[in-house]
Amino acid sequence: MKEQIDSVLQKARQMLGAAQTMQDLEQVRVQLLGKKGELTGILKQLGKLSAEERPKMGQLANEVRGQIEAHIQEKTRELQEAALACRLQEETLDITMPAVRQPAGSLHPLSIVLNDMIDIFKSMGFDVVDGPEVETDYYNFEALNVPADHPARDMQDTFYLGDNLLLRTQTSAAQIRTMESRRPPIRMICPGRVYRADEVDATHSPVFHQVEGLVVDKGITMCDLKGTLEQFAREIYGKDAKIKFRPSFFPFTEPSVEVDVSCPKCGGAGHTAAGDCSVCKGSGWIEILGAGMVHPRVLSGCGIDPQVYSGFAFGIGLDRLTITKYKISDIRLIFENDLRFLEQF
Ligand code: PHE
Repeated sequence: MKEQIDSVLQKARQMLGAAQTMQDLEQVRVQLLGKKGELTGILKQLGKLSAEERPKMGQLANEVRGQIEAHIQEKTRELQEAALACRLQEETLDITMPAVRQPAGSLHPLSIVLNDMIDIFKSMGFDVVDGPEVETDYYNFEALNVPADHPARDMQDTFYLGDNLLLRTQTSAAQIRTMESRRPPIRMICPGRVYRADEVDATHSPVFHQVEGLVVDKGITMCDLKGTLEQFAREIYGKDAKIKFRPSFFPFTEPSVEVDVSCPKCGGAGHTAAGDCSVCKGSGWIEILGAGMVHPRVLSGCGIDPQVYSGFAFGIGLDRLTITKYKISDIRLIFENDLRFLEQF
């Protein structure tokens, strides 16, 4: 029996030496140590031995089993290590290689200026409202004191969408919606796109942007309008910026003004060392908005008593403001989304 047991150990060494995979190892375990395995088979014969021999053989068999198990374990570790080394080799990463950079993108110049404007007006207590770009004739014209046959309709060449619908020509439509839905005191701005059937050139686009402003309260005067816009101009263009009111006409404000700001490039002189200033074209001033005191008829149309309340409104040309602030020469650049242009901001 001792020889039989020894030969199992021999066999185990042979088989394990040749084993290449985990399956091979399992095969060894089953064939030699399993329930029907060779060593187990030998142990079943123990009963036939003498009482003296039996414990010796039993002990020997157990030792051999222990040795074989240890071998299998060792071999298992070897195979695992080899597999790991192989994987590490295959999956080598060169972490010193420079990565491909994702371009980060940037804000559109209009968004930068609009964000600034929102911050400025919020700090003065205004809130920001939104209005529809497809408007009814009523909100875009009628309620703003421009009846159907009024010559002022020609001031704005309108895209009509049907009998009653149009693309808003001015964010002023949002004044009416705000006064209908809220009671004074009102302090709001409404930024957004507006549309006019204009030919495209360096200063005109059929779609552009306005920021409407509206303040309604008791005792609001033209001084409040001027102070608000002066503060706004100083924050946008710098503390030396000046503004100038010119008399004008809008059907929904009385009196009405157009507001110029001193040219940010030449500081109002109209010329630089190189000659006439290219931003203000030599005048020293740039028109940036229309404004005025809300017409009493507009207030009462919205159910606000003009005997008790007064207000001012303004409409700022956002594209104009952006162009002058960044000294951009052509409004088309704002809409074409040429990355070489946009990446500069
Ligand atoms: N809505 C006017 C325009 O587009 C601007 C404006 C707004 C004027 C508010 C006065 C008051 O020309």
